[in-house]
Amino acid sequence: MEGTASGLGDIDLTDLSAFEDGPPQEVFRRLRDQAPLFWHEPTRHTPEGQGFWCLTRHEDVAWAAKDAGLFSSCTGGARTGGGTLIEDLPLGFAAGVLFNMQDDPRHQHIRRLVTPSLSPRRLREIEDELRRRCDRILDEVVDRGGCDFLVDVAAELPLQAIAALLGIPQEDRHLFLSWADATLDYEDRELGQTSTRSAEAGAAMFAYGSKLLAEKRRKPADDILSIVANADLPQGAQPGGPMTDIEQEMFFNLLIAAGSETTRNSIAAGLLALIEHPAQWDALRSDRRLLPSAVEEMLRWASTTTYNRRTATRDAVRHEQQIRVGDKVVLWWQSANFDERIFEDPMVFDITRTPNPHLTFGLGPHFCLGASLARVEIRLVFEGLLDRVDAVDKVGPVERTRSNKHAGFRHVPVRIRKRGR
Ligand code: HEM
Repeated sequence: MEGTASGLGDIDLTDLSAFEDGPPQEVFRRLRDQAPLFWHEPTRHTPEGQGFWCLTRHEDVAWAAKDAGLFSSCTGGARTGGGTLIEDLPLGFAAGVLFNMQDDPRHQHIRRLVTPSLSPRRLREIEDELRRRCDRILDEVVDRGGCDFLVDVAAELPLQAIAALLGIPQEDRHLFLSWADATLDYEDRELGQTSTRSAEAGAAMFAYGSKLLAEKRRKPADDILSIVANADLPQGAQPGGPMTDIEQEMFFNLLIAAGSETTRNSIAAGLLALIEHPAQWDALRSDRRLLPSAVEEMLRWASTTTYNRRTATRDAVRHEQQIRVGDKVVLWWQSANFDERIFEDPMVFDITRTPNPHLTFGLGPHFCLGASLARVEIRLVFEGLLDRVDAVDKVGPVERTRSNKHAGFRHVPVRIRKRGR
């Protein structure tokens, strides 16, 4: 196989320690240069002992993301599992049922139903409320003079936003926030493992989701969960009619996970990038009009969703190699975002970068449904910081999560110097 022939046989993208200090940029660069379609042999870390194809160039990742007929988010060939993680998830429980792991036409019909709830128009309606929440969060930590930026700021706003969009009643939000914290945190466990705390919280949240869905069926309101609970899909969705109970419950869980973890990590990565590049921070402080391009650069720089996997639904040829039906194909968004064929000086953090065609939110039919929301949240946090602070410094080691799927953080301790102090 090409991996061995090109001297790339030492590469192991399933070894989580390769991601411990940040993305393995050097490995990705070698792959982009030498093996744009790379067969990753199974290693002792690889789930199911099965190899998979890696796409690392922007052009190739975009090609695969756009062709959802050839590259399924559900499954392909004779597989009994599938989904968008490297490991196979069971069909009918996760793959094929979770909205992001479904294929068209069903996926497209559900997407059409829920898209308006996350549209820029809907977000304009809730932006003032989000700003108030963000202001409260920032006022508190700025007055304190410091915080764990990941826990106290970056994690807080996305969860509050998702709770509002899902229509979680105000009186239940503290419960919801504590469950979400326990299920999304890896402090007491490794990736893929559950601790008693995370398992109990996960079960409680699932039960809560089922109860809330039933409530939304009885008394629909103006929120995304009410739409899912009362969906009446056309026959073309195969089958038509209501979404199944498990589809609805998984949708609730998906939005909480997708809506909080990725955004919190982007906010934290954005702040760290500004701390590490003080000239960029100064440039932003002296010209706020740079904020939109700064947000895009933070998103590219953070590339918090490292990859998504697909399964080939038929044989295909790329870079003169044969992909077989049923093969796993991994789209490394994180590598595409640093492809020197597209980005000038990709390893430079440049808040004026325009255009910035990063693939942080994916591309094609599964393009991130929450992209506008994430952009608003990141903008609000940095607007709020620019209003309030003169400087932010790291005051301790930054702890990263150990994952090849989410580039993220556990703790980001910072000192904050209030404006004019
Ligand atoms: C910076 C923050 C975020 C990043 C980096 C991110 C990344 C992504 C990526 C890469 C995909 C494509 C997955 C694929 O092609 O298999 C995706 C899909 C998705 N995201 Fe996000 N996301 C973010 C924020 C959010 C938020 C705030 C929400 C919730 C409101 C959300 C909900 C979703 C959903 C529901 C999908 C599935 C879309 C589909 O399959 O049609 N995401 N996201």
